[in-house]
Amino acid sequence: MFLRTKFDLRAELNLIKESGLYKDERIILSDQKANILVSYPAGAEAKEVLNFCSNNYLGLANHPYIIESAIKTIEKYGFGLASVRFICGTQDIHKILEEKISCFYQTDDTILYSSCYDANTGLFESILGKDDVIITDSLNHASIINGIRLCKARRLIYEHSDMNSLEHQLQLAREGRDIWEHTGLAHEPVPAKNILIVTDGVFSMDGDIAKLREIIDLANIYDAMVMVDDSHATGFFGATGRGSLEYCNVLGEVDIITSTLGKAMGGASGGFTTGKREIIEMLRQRSRPYLFSNTLAPVIVGASIAVFELLEKSNDLRNKLMENTKYFREKMTSLGFDIIESIHPIVPILFRKFNNDAQLAQLFAKELYDEGIYVVGFSYPVVPKGQARIRVQISAAHEKEHLDKCIAAFEKVGKKFNVI
Ligand SMILES: Cc1ncc(COP(=O)(O)O)c(C=O)c1O
Repeated sequence: MFLRTKFDLRAELNLIKESGLYKDERIILSDQKANILVSYPAGAEAKEVLNFCSNNYLGLANHPYIIESAIKTIEKYGFGLASVRFICGTQDIHKILEEKISCFYQTDDTILYSSCYDANTGLFESILGKDDVIITDSLNHASIINGIRLCKARRLIYEHSDMNSLEHQLQLAREGRDIWEHTGLAHEPVPAKNILIVTDGVFSMDGDIAKLREIIDLANIYDAMVMVDDSHATGFFGATGRGSLEYCNVLGEVDIITSTLGKAMGGASGGFTTGKREIIEMLRQRSRPYLFSNTLAPVIVGASIAVFELLEKSNDLRNKLMENTKYFREKMTSLGFDIIESIHPIVPILFRKFNNDAQLAQLFAKELYDEGIYVVGFSYPVVPKGQARIRVQISAAHEKEHLDKCIAAFEKVGKKFNVI
């Protein structure tokens, strides 16, 4: 009988609503771009607003060349494959895209997934077991956390981007003192067999970049492997878009990279894991989202190959994105907004100086929407308590007049709420 569960779920949903954390969806009536047509609340008259909260970093979500490539791929390869990869779901284009990604990141081999969420949840349990230790940054993405939960390896957490904390965890794992001292499950130290350090390349809520050089140096000292999720960097960050690894000058030194095709790379969907040959080979044998979930649709594969081709030809979109980001960050800082310093197009506008930060972030975002700017307020538990924010995301699709309109709206609302 559903009745009992219905009662419980209703009560919990009401709690979510009362705490202001209920997520309702705004209905977009256009394609994804800088100026979108939105109905909000759902069913309300459509309104044109400027989108400052999408992961469409390079503006490729509606790029004519990508759309044309998608249409051509559908015409040649059809819409669906109705199979997982290893039964009858691998076309030549899947192999071409995997090869392209390996070349791009200078790795041995690549495996495609339906999403980076799947890549992360299918990774750890496929290659590590109970004698191993995973050391993970405290702010890593939910899909990494869930992937680690599925794995029998011991889990140690280091303070966000704190290299002393990481080194301490590495020492515990190497000497096997973690399980001995902290769990009481062993009578003597049990040194880890394999150690994997896991980090986001760019942290999605703060826009800060992992200290990859230092992480790799520590990994080398303690004989550990390194895995980086580069979802918020692939295609646009670093001199030629090879992400946080290129930015930190560590290309070729990271054992495992996961990332998404669902953000800068056209924004449809899809993910991948790229890295050492034996790891990728084992994922093809063991990774459950790969073995038990459908292959990536041909249309996304064909269009994603076109994205890589486009990015190989020109740096124009990347340069425009970085110029837009610099302009926006400078203007907002000089207006007096509290911004986490970085050069990344994720620009969090913080309300940490105010007691009612969570409420303020929501109200501020709503007022901005009335001014024609679409952004979202984030508060606890999505971000730590007292650190509510509006996360602005800059795109190469933004023109200068879009940025100026957004900055002017922030200034107007900021003054109204005494934030600046
Ligand atoms: C760091 C990180 N990893 C993984 C994902 C999941 O990517 P996908 O949408 O391809 O599942 C996201 C998306 O929000 C992300 O920010």
